[in-house]
Amino acid sequence: MVSTIHKAVIGLWCLANVLESVSNQTYTRSGWTVYSYPHDIASDAVEINIKDTNIDRVDYVEAFPSLRRYSLTNNQVSDFPDLSNVSDTLLRLTISFTRITTLPVSAMAAMPKLELLDVSSNKIAHLPDLTAVFPSLCTLMARSNGLRSMNRSTAFRYFLTGNQLTKLPELDDVADGLTLVVMADNKMTKIPGDALPSAPKFALLDLRRNGITNFPDLRNVTALNYLALSSESDRFRVRTSSDDVAEAVVAQRQQPGRVSQSWQRVRRLDRPGFGNERN
Ligand SMILES: *[C@@H]1O[C@H](CO)[C@@H](O)[C@H](O)[C@H]1NC(C)=O
Ligand SMILES: *[C@@H]1O[C@H](CO)[C@@H](O)[C@H](O)[C@H]1NC(C)=O
Ligand SMILES: *[C@@H]1O[C@H](CO)[C@@H](O)[C@H](O)[C@H]1NC(C)=O
Repeated sequence: MVSTIHKAVIGLWCLANVLESVSNQTYTRSGWTVYSYPHDIASDAVEINIKDTNIDRVDYVEAFPSLRRYSLTNNQVSDFPDLSNVSDTLLRLTISFTRITTLPVSAMAAMPKLELLDVSSNKIAHLPDLTAVFPSLCTLMARSNGLRSMNRSTAFRYFLTGNQLTKLPELDDVADGLTLVVMADNKMTKIPGDALPSAPKFALLDLRRNGITNFPDLRNVTALNYLALSSESDRFRVRTSSDDVAEAVVAQRQQPGRVSQSWQRVRRLDRPGFGNERN
């Protein structure tokens, strides 16, 4: 269990990092002619971006005492890099559009300050328990991985669109701070009645294109403002906090394709008249 004090600390941490100022010491390297990991980065770098390269291996990462943000995007890397030299300072870590298949948490150095992890567009089938290695994580992004299962994390915001998940993440431990869960394009067909915790800040749930055929009672999810559902079977009886029964009909049939990638179909549950729509 994540203790209440721990959760409060994580909450403050999330806020502090939003206010963090932008620094100049940014190192960027990109280009398809780059085949080996660069080692000419100034030691006072605050941010490192290495993108769109042909690098297939990160041989080592030096210590950068000021490093806050590290991004390794769109390359041929197949092993999660050893970041132990920068693990104490990192706030944001992006390793996306690579060939990595696992997050080897048991062999990784803990990153006590990391608040955002983005491992989208890799080939990770399972996300292990992240609570020990990323104890301050606020935002977890793992879109488009073919994820089939995931363990828990401390995150309050989940971006998991485009996977093979059949269940919501375990959310009980983070219920106090939970804010949003975006899980469009997964394989969830049923949401058990107790799967959604009564989370005082849980405001957004996106479950479009999952083929869900039932839906839980949402009356205890009192902060929910946005609920996005869509599929061939887009008709649900949704119990909301505000009203007795709302029939959420979110329209695949409204110009399919044109609006499907946007937020246009996200309906406000608290909008007057919501739930009065009929086929
Ligand atoms: C850590 O930094 C040192 C010094 O630059 C380097 O020799 C070593 O290989 C690095 N370790 C890792 C795991 O990257
Ligand atoms: C999550 O990981 C823990 C070990 O950290 C393990 O005991 C537990 O069974 C896992 N749960 C799931 C649902 O995989
Ligand atoms: C809502 O919360 C109340 C009080 O904790 C509980 O008794 C009830 O079973 C919950 N209802 C649902 C549908 O979860």
